[in-house]
Amino acid sequence: MKVGLIGCGGMGTVHNLSLKELSKYYDIQVTAAADCREEFLNRAAGLWTGVQKFQYGKDLIEKSGVDVVHICVPSYLHGDLAIQAMEKGINVFVEKPVCLGREDCRRLLEMEKKTGVKIMVGQVVRCFEEYKFLKDVYDHKTYGKLKSIMMHRLSGDTTWGWEDWFHDINKSGSVILDLHVHDTDFLRYMIGEPDSYQVHAAKFKSGMPNQVVTTYEFGNVFAVVEGTWDISSKMPFEAYYRASFENATVVFSSLHDPHVSIYHQDGTVTSPDLKPEYDVEDDLAGINISSLGAYYTEIKYFVECIINQKPIKVASLSEGVKSVLLILGELSEAMK
Ligand SMILES: NC(=O)c1ccc[n+]([C@@H]2O[C@H](COP(=O)([O-])OP(=O)(O)OC[C@H]3O[C@@H](n4cnc5c(N)ncnc54)[C@H](O)[C@@H]3O)[C@@H](O)[C@H]2O)c1
Repeated sequence: MKVGLIGCGGMGTVHNLSLKELSKYYDIQVTAAADCREEFLNRAAGLWTGVQKFQYGKDLIEKSGVDVVHICVPSYLHGDLAIQAMEKGINVFVEKPVCLGREDCRRLLEMEKKTGVKIMVGQVVRCFEEYKFLKDVYDHKTYGKLKSIMMHRLSGDTTWGWEDWFHDINKSGSVILDLHVHDTDFLRYMIGEPDSYQVHAAKFKSGMPNQVVTTYEFGNVFAVVEGTWDISSKMPFEAYYRASFENATVVFSSLHDPHVSIYHQDGTVTSPDLKPEYDVEDDLAGINISSLGAYYTEIKYFVECIINQKPIKVASLSEGVKSVLLILGELSEAMK
């Protein structure tokens, strides 16, 4: 399977390293790469032999003859490139958020229906062991019914983006589409669509939201979810949840060791043995990601769906679109 990597910055590097590891077990190879920054392009291409190099993603799609593209460019470019690739019959892995607008959501779904190519969205939280564990205990009512859940995703200010695209609301959709979408998407995956929600937001001096707190109601269950790009780039990254079930409270923090603790009603505290299937730390990407684990898992799943001609179920296009549509409603509230 010939893979084209479009965008060789932070997330492109994470994809490239994961694909390299996967190529030990599957017949896949990155045969083409695109990035308008030569240094990043050469670094990505250097991991493989004989890679065709392109400055822009659109040329790679047009000329490289690949079977699959991984779209890891800034978010405002996702929609057009994914549609162009699908039109060419190329399977697509597109980073989250799948796109930034309602019209692109519509066009993407239409193109998927028309072409039948496989497309998966990088809503990677669905593949993290700690969140898979939470969904499992929720589905099986291991600790009784869920009563409430607090979640947050806190990041230092984003300083690595090409042309500072994260700080332009038209290019990133702000922290709401970029970071908060992860937890919202996971809640939808686990519980379903919320009945209602309320949004509070704070903004950078530029007027773009950098902190959002949304309260969702799902029947009797409520969720309070914060997404923040702090004003300081030094704020340590933390992903967190505290899920209160009838018989136990399950707490996860990416900063805790162990990551997940279960506080049982009888006063005992246990911790599940959770290990990613590929546990390698690599800071080559230069972004707030230390372990390749869940990224490896989601890309492996995508590769297997293509090889075995199975439908994408874990993070399908329609799921990515539903999360974006919900989040766009939240962004409108935040901007009022
Ligand atoms: N799943 C996750 O956890 C996660 C984490 C970080 C970023 N992301 C997503 O990944 C995407 C990329 O983010 P990033 O942090 O890697 O950004 P980045 O700025 O580090 O990298 C983007 C790269 O795209 C290149 N580029 C820009 N326009 C291009 C074009 N037309 N053709 C080819 N290359 C082009 C830039 O030169 C840059 O190297 C975003 O959509 C972001 O939301 C996902």
